[in-house]
Amino acid sequence: MSMRYFITGTAGFIGFHLARRLLQDGHEVTGFDGMTHYYNIKLKHMRNAALAQFPAFTPVTAMLEDRAALEQAVTAARPDVMIHLAAQAGVRYSNENPEAYLNSNLIGSWNILEIARKSGVAHLMLASTSSIYGANPTVPFHETDRADEPLTFYAATKKSMELMAHSYAHLHKIPTTAFRFFTVYGPWGRPDMALFKFVKNMLEGQPIEIYGEGKMSRDFTYIDDLVEAVVRLSAVVPGESNRIASEKVETLSHQAPFRIVNIGGGQPISLLDFVETVEKALGQPARRVMLPMQQGDVPRTYASPDLLRALTGYTPETSLEQGVAAFVEWYLEARRELDTAA
Ligand SMILES: NC(=O)c1ccc[n+]([C@@H]2O[C@H](COP(=O)([O-])OP(=O)(O)OC[C@H]3O[C@@H](n4cnc5c(N)ncnc54)[C@H](O)[C@@H]3O)[C@@H](O)[C@H]2O)c1
Repeated sequence: MSMRYFITGTAGFIGFHLARRLLQDGHEVTGFDGMTHYYNIKLKHMRNAALAQFPAFTPVTAMLEDRAALEQAVTAARPDVMIHLAAQAGVRYSNENPEAYLNSNLIGSWNILEIARKSGVAHLMLASTSSIYGANPTVPFHETDRADEPLTFYAATKKSMELMAHSYAHLHKIPTTAFRFFTVYGPWGRPDMALFKFVKNMLEGQPIEIYGEGKMSRDFTYIDDLVEAVVRLSAVVPGESNRIASEKVETLSHQAPFRIVNIGGGQPISLLDFVETVEKALGQPARRVMLPMQQGDVPRTYASPDLLRALTGYTPETSLEQGVAAFVEWYLEARRELDTAA
């Protein structure tokens, strides 16, 4: 059955892929994005142009902080499901420009909550992050772990968004799923993230910077797997009827139709193994510059995929080799346009 989706952040990496998948599945999508200049805006225009091929796609260019514009867009879209992905992303940049995070992730997300309340949407979904686990010493990270010690302001804003959303879910009975994404990568990916930077630099004969002397590890999630998980979760509207018996994994609130779910495969990879995978995909060695951990870096991320599996029967499955190869194939095609397009 065709449904109406309102997605924020559709000119961004994850929002683009999710919107495209839903459009391919025959749904209607309104995409709301402020086209911020955090990274190469050309990539956002290229993603928008690809989505514009679908007649069922309606783009809206405005900022989340502009409540009137947001409200107008949601009223026109009459969505069944709202998926809020737009944010000031990036861990390190939050040391430089915390205000961008405050505006987009707190005020912007609060506007989304207010409008979800008024529109009576059947399911609100929000993007949070593995960064909120901070330096959690126990692995894998379960959603039920205490996650109250964020190491970056980015993580603090995302944790705050989760808390604000819980109160709205309780007060206004808005069924809400907050997903915690773990290092998402793949074609059309973000230029500020390691895979993009490594491939670009290596192809241009430049060295790559490896933080934490390569000892950090990340649970990498391939974009198509993440989209599959989000699509499946969109049908699992939080409520007592789908409460999972295990208290160790279930996060469904006892006060509200609100649940937090990790989206990650539970297979962390050290940064040195990651670099080797990129070297193999490009068929050339990298010139490595080893640097210490940066302020706010977390030593590892490692998702427990148990709750996602219990709710949807699905666990991310794409190998790093396959995912990196897909990125490289896309990048080799796209790089000329990225460097020249308006
Ligand atoms: N990519 C990852 O590995 C990852 C990991 C954890 C969490 N997340 C979260 O997933 C979501 C999507 O991330 P992404 O990787 O696609 O990032 P992205 O930067 O590619 O996409 C975010 C989009 O939001 C838009 N945006 C930013 N601030 C806005 C505002 N105030 N008003 C309107 N639009 C605004 C930007 O223009 C951009 O197109 C974000 O909430 C991010 O925090 C991503």
